[in-house]
Amino acid sequence: TYVVTDNCIRCKYMDCVEVCPVDCFYEGENMLVIHPDECIDCGVCEPECPAEAIFPDTGANLESWLDLNAKYAELWPNIAVKREPPVDAAAFDGVPNKLEPFFS
Ligand code: SF4
Ligand code: F3S
Repeated sequence: TYVVTDNCIRCKYMDCVEVCPVDCFYEGENMLVIHPDECIDCGVCEPECPAEAIFPDTGANLESWLDLNAKYAELWPNIAVKREPPVDAAAFDGVPNKLEPFFS
C-alpha cells in the first residue's frame, strides 16, 4: 500500500484524489490518508502530490504513518474530488514535524 505522510498536513493539495483509480483517499481537516486495504498499489498518486507526501509503505520508518493512515481511513469520510487547497498551503510545504501541532 501507499501512505500519506507528514508533509501533507496543512498543504492538502488533493491532486492525489483525482488520479486514484479506486478512490481510497479519506479526508481529515488538515490532511488526507489512504485506506491500506483498498489501495491497489498502482503508484500513480505518488508523483502527483506537489508536497511529495506519498510513499510506498516499504520505505524506511513509515510504520507509524501506515498505522495512522489505517486508523483514520476508518474514521474520516471518503474524498474523490479535488477542492481548493488551503490558502496558506505553500507556506506549510516543507515545514518539519507538522504532526504534533497540526494533525486533525
Ligand atoms: Fe490510489 Fe494507486 Fe495511490 Fe493506492 S497507489 S492510493 S490505489 S492512486
Ligand atoms: Fe496531501 Fe499531496 Fe494529496 S499534499 S492531499 S497527499 S496531493
